[in-house]
Amino acid sequence: MAERKCLVVYYSRSGNTKKVAGAVAEGLGADVEEIIDRKKRSGPVGFIIGAVHAKLKKLTEIEACRSDPASYDLIVIGTPVWCGTMSCAVRTYISRLRDRLPEVAFFLTTGSSGTRGTFKDMAELSGKEPVACLGLKQKQVRKGDWQEQVADFVRRTGL
Ligand SMILES: Cc1cc2nc3c(=O)[nH]c(=O)nc-3n(C[C@H](O)[C@H](O)[C@H](O)COP(=O)(O)O)c2cc1C
Repeated sequence: MAERKCLVVYYSRSGNTKKVAGAVAEGLGADVEEIIDRKKRSGPVGFIIGAVHAKLKKLTEIEACRSDPASYDLIVIGTPVWCGTMSCAVRTYISRLRDRLPEVAFFLTTGSSGTRGTFKDMAELSGKEPVACLGLKQKQVRKGDWQEQVADFVRRTGL
């Protein structure tokens, strides 16, 4: 059977989701693409605007993506939880490319809450049931206490 192609695509404001994305991509032997939000998200003002916009389900401006998801067998999409849902950049990515998505899997990092709601919102927006989901708390990510969960997630994608 031909090898299945996988892309990990993620947004990260402060590095947690990026760390997990790197490990997931390594486990899957996947290509990686970072979604870049053109809006300034740093500092306390960036935090508050991000939270309000996420809550209102607003889209943002993202840089054009290099990879076409339709040329992959599986897209793994990663986001931080913002106000109980996905970040604006990931909402924009999925909204824009939903018709080009193959099978999907989702992962997220969170302070502590919003895991189920975020996965549900991502599934609804993409119109796809994920083959696997992984939610990690920022504390775990910072402690490096997540390798086993990433390995299990990689197995569950069936790739
Ligand atoms: C704008 C904003 C909103 C957030 N909202 C939540 C939330 O509703 N619940 C929660 O547990 N954590 C929340 N967090 C914390 C992030 O989900 C958490 O720190 C995550 O690991 C950040 O990922 P990143 O480093 O990849 O940006 C929020 C963070 C930001 C910046």
